[in-house]
Amino acid sequence: MSLRRRLLLAATGLLVVVALAFLGVALAQRASLTAQLDDRLESLTANGAALVTVANRADAGNAAAASLLTDVYVGVVRADGGLTTVLAPDAGPSPVPVLIGGEAGAGPVTRAVAGGGARVRLVVLTVGARRSVVVAVSMSGVEASFRRLLLSLGLAWLATALVTLLVAGWVERLGLRPIARITAAAEHVTATGGRAPVRVDAGDPGTEAGRLGSAFNAMVATTAAGQEELRRFVADASHELRTPLTTLRGYSSLYAAGGLGTAAQVADAMARINAEASRMGRIVDDLLDLTALGDPAALELRAVDVGIELEHLAADLRVREPGRTVRVRSVSARVVADPDRLRQALTALVANAVKYSADATPIDLAAEVGGAVVRLQVTDRGRGIAAEDLPRVFDRFYRGHEAGAPRDVARGSGLGLAIVAAIVSAHGGRYGVDSAPRAGSTFWIELPAAGVAS
Ligand SMILES: Nc1ncnc2c1ncn2[C@@H]1O[C@H](COP(=O)(O)OP(=O)(O)OP(=O)(O)O)[C@@H](O)[C@H]1O
Ligand SMILES: [Mg+2]
Repeated sequence: MSLRRRLLLAATGLLVVVALAFLGVALAQRASLTAQLDDRLESLTANGAALVTVANRADAGNAAAASLLTDVYVGVVRADGGLTTVLAPDAGPSPVPVLIGGEAGAGPVTRAVAGGGARVRLVVLTVGARRSVVVAVSMSGVEASFRRLLLSLGLAWLATALVTLLVAGWVERLGLRPIARITAAAEHVTATGGRAPVRVDAGDPGTEAGRLGSAFNAMVATTAAGQEELRRFVADASHELRTPLTTLRGYSSLYAAGGLGTAAQVADAMARINAEASRMGRIVDDLLDLTALGDPAALELRAVDVGIELEHLAADLRVREPGRTVRVRSVSARVVADPDRLRQALTALVANAVKYSADATPIDLAAEVGGAVVRLQVTDRGRGIAAEDLPRVFDRFYRGHEAGAPRDVARGSGLGLAIVAAIVSAHGGRYGVDSAPRAGSTFWIELPAAGVAS
């Protein structure tokens, strides 16, 4: 059942319960007043003969007797069943009760009076041998106060209904209507497959609905950003793969057209095809790496000694680049990291240092502890990075303007630093670069130190 329907049901239920309670109070009050009348009738009729005597005297003008019975009707039942009035109350027209039989000996009963309108409470007494006397008191007082009470309770009920309506309207405006708006927006997002960015008017952030609205907007924005990121990822990847594919297609067309006449030409084409295929393979591997790094839970974290890592890296580098000076300035420190991923990131940084600097220039590896983090650095004395490239070198597929120069290096895919960034981010670390054109670059990453409470 919808919240709105429940609210309506609760409000209606409340008003019905209040109405029944008010009616119950009014009826109880009338019963209590009627009981008072009955008490009075009982005391009047305790001695029927005496009452008739007093009534006769009062009727005969005895003031003392009359003062006792100013509001009492006394009548004698005739043989024909009618009433002969002995005494009528002072006020109002003479209320001659209409008997319908069965009253004799019964407790006080309520009867209409002749001429309609008013009602009386009466007792029929048997006085003497067979004389029946009716003693009645008017119920107009009881009924008037019952009506007054009903009127007051009715007004109170109306006020309750008004307040209930106001509260229900308030709840509906503050709570239910925004929820309906958010639901409609969510349905719209679903119907359009998330392509149409929707925002809802979140309203007062102090209310639950307001917070729900803000959370919804944030969720839609995050989803839209994620979709845009995915779209760009696919576009970038397709663009990068298109170049080697074009080369492959070119060679196959050339071959089909008989353009590769000699064995040497075929061998050359095969070598180029092989190189392009390898390049595509590397790009695909890198893209898969980037995708996998989106899930930090996949990291196998442990304490890794950075001193040992840097020494291994330097040893490999010295073997591959015997002409260079490779220096290591390290401390004994450990970081919380996935060792394979850490090695992958450092290797990418060292590969760039080699690729973008002259053969004989030195490369420095360093580690230092700063508070709860360990900073690892790779410094080269290469060509450096132009100021306009600096903010973008960690972007996916971004290659600097002079990529490839000054050395004749193979064109990279521009994914190396993006993977470094993804690895460091997955570890909750930071990364950056300090560089000046022709002076060299220092790439650094900071990872959480092991055994230090963060
Ligand atoms: N040590 C460095 N010195 C100068 N420029 C650098 C250095 N490292 C990176 N760059 C610049 O940053 C760009 C991006 O680097 P990245 O490692 O992401 O891609 P890449 O080296 O071109 O290709 P890949 O690493 O995917 O083979 C490079 O093209 C280069 O212009
Ligand atoms: Mg690189």
